[in-house]
Amino acid sequence: MSKLRTSALAPGSVQSEIRAMSLLADEVGGINMAQGICDTEVPLVVREAAKAAIDEGHNIYTRQDGILRLRKAIAGDWQRRNAITLDPEREVMVTSGATGAFYSAALALLDAGDEAILFEPLYGYHAGTLRSMSVTPVIVPLVYGSWALDIDVVRAAITPKTRLIVINTPSNPAGKVFTRTELEALAELAIEHDLFVFSDEIYEHFVYPGHEHISMATLPGMRARTITLSGFSKTFSVTGWRVGSVVADAKWTPSIGYFHDLTYVCAPAPFQHGCAAGLEQLPPSFYTDMARDHEVKRAKTLAALTDAGLTPHTPDGAYYILADATPLNGTTSAEKARDLLRRTGVASVAGSAFFRKGGGENLLRFCFAKRDGDLDEACARLRRLKDS
Ligand SMILES: Cc1ncc(COP(=O)(O)O)c(C=O)c1O
Repeated sequence: MSKLRTSALAPGSVQSEIRAMSLLADEVGGINMAQGICDTEVPLVVREAAKAAIDEGHNIYTRQDGILRLRKAIAGDWQRRNAITLDPEREVMVTSGATGAFYSAALALLDAGDEAILFEPLYGYHAGTLRSMSVTPVIVPLVYGSWALDIDVVRAAITPKTRLIVINTPSNPAGKVFTRTELEALAELAIEHDLFVFSDEIYEHFVYPGHEHISMATLPGMRARTITLSGFSKTFSVTGWRVGSVVADAKWTPSIGYFHDLTYVCAPAPFQHGCAAGLEQLPPSFYTDMARDHEVKRAKTLAALTDAGLTPHTPDGAYYILADATPLNGTTSAEKARDLLRRTGVASVAGSAFFRKGGGENLLRFCFAKRDGDLDEACARLRRLKDS
């Protein structure tokens, strides 16, 4: 065999379906509801602080775990919202997005051959990242449609090799917000089997009425085994800035930091200042207004999908909708997504991207974190599906 080859872990095809649909949408001048690009406005204070930071010379490496100002601001946020006092020197890290947080934590805490429990519908990066380090994702389906957790199915999936449960609340793509009862049941299992929990809470501020965001680390006995991953991509609409966070016990942060340093060195310095200013200065109403704005966008999108005959599942949080693709032509969800793009100019993501092989073939995912003008146009186009 030639030595000029890709690694055993590198996939044969690296084009993600989400990227493919975004490219196709650009080609046909369509509206991209595929990628969670989140092109809503960046808060002024965040933008201004990042620009000022560049002018003031904050353009060099920071500590691998970020500037103290931002670590302190994250600790302050946890104090206010979770009534948990964190040591910003040892229990809070600034990372290269939630993605860098997950990658570094997985490298630091797991070994090849370990098993990790993930819930389906899945966020693909979680499974892909674990596979890239020879950790086996063990995928547990949520109850189809309600996306409720069946704790017996989780229990049955645990083996002696299991070391981790990954949760994402609110979730991408289902918009599931884990209830306290569900989190308590998972916590009990994690404690019984001595497991880590990685809790991806990047959509923590996008929760709709009737639901409550609860951080796993706030549950009794969970703080030492929970690695909480979050970030500013979604909250401040700065997906390109690459600023995220890890909150974890001081026992784990040095190892997570070691790998964060090796892979990313640090999060971008001026953008750390921008995010710190946002956390320090934006009032609580910023976050509640954002959730309310997205609730309106959710309602608009749900109505348009219903009118188009693409029956939607109503998400409880985050900013995606999974909708039924029955009226569309094609046998796979990838074909159905292309049919919808051709007929309406609206790009969505094939449901198969979020399930194991054979699953999600009659679902499409729509991202509604769009500027109002674009969202209104997308909704008008979706409604034309019936006439096309
Ligand atoms: C569940 C989830 N986690 C993490 C991310 C990425 O976050 P970041 O931009 O902070 O890396 C996304 C983005 O779509 C996501 O949906």
